[in-house]
Amino acid sequence: MAELDRLITSRRSIRNYLDKPVEKGKIQEMIEAVRLAPSACNSQPWRLIIVDEKDLKNELAKKGLGGVVSNAWAKTAPVIIVACSDLSFFTHKIGEKVQGVQYHLIDMGIALEHMVLKAAELSLGTCYIGWFNSRPIKQILNIPSSWSVDCLVTLGYPAEIPEATSRKSTAEIAFYNKID
Ligand SMILES: Cc1cc2nc3c(=O)[nH]c(=O)nc-3n(C[C@H](O)[C@H](O)[C@H](O)COP(=O)(O)O)c2cc1C
Repeated sequence: MAELDRLITSRRSIRNYLDKPVEKGKIQEMIEAVRLAPSACNSQPWRLIIVDEKDLKNELAKKGLGGVVSNAWAKTAPVIIVACSDLSFFTHKIGEKVQGVQYHLIDMGIALEHMVLKAAELSLGTCYIGWFNSRPIKQILNIPSSWSVDCLVTLGYPAEIPEATSRKSTAEIAFYNKID
């Protein structure tokens, strides 16, 4: 199996982590994978805040998570990455108005999956968190008002690796030419 196939197939959302720090060098490799991602008009709107100080991380988990989906497990992760977009780009604003497409979210999805696959290659576990409370997170981390908090990603060495979750068949998600 090709290496990329192996990573895509073996990656899991990890929600239980070892109490073991993540090496800065590995985090830098993950940031580099984000840096090289494509983006609309090459605007590179991603801004990552890597939270690895225990007290700050716990405050973030306590005040920034919860609500409809608790995500309480996230505080076991030694690192929480807060993925923001700098929205002060003219092209993004115009594109969004004309096309009705939030390009920064597409850019972010691509870049974060680069990062998550890189983490998997480095034997690290991750989990995207889409349920969070933006306001306290911005306040705790001094995030500028022109940035949006788009996603959180937990990071650390997995304490357990869950079974694969189910997927639709290729026939259900892709169509050649017209849809019958
Ligand atoms: C944009 C996005 C947001 C997500 N938000 C959450 C979340 O808030 N809490 C959580 O436990 N998992 C979250 N997940 C993880 C998904 O539940 C998970 O990817 C999916 O169930 C498939 O499982 P797998 O990643 O192990 O293949 C999120 C995933 C994505 C891509």
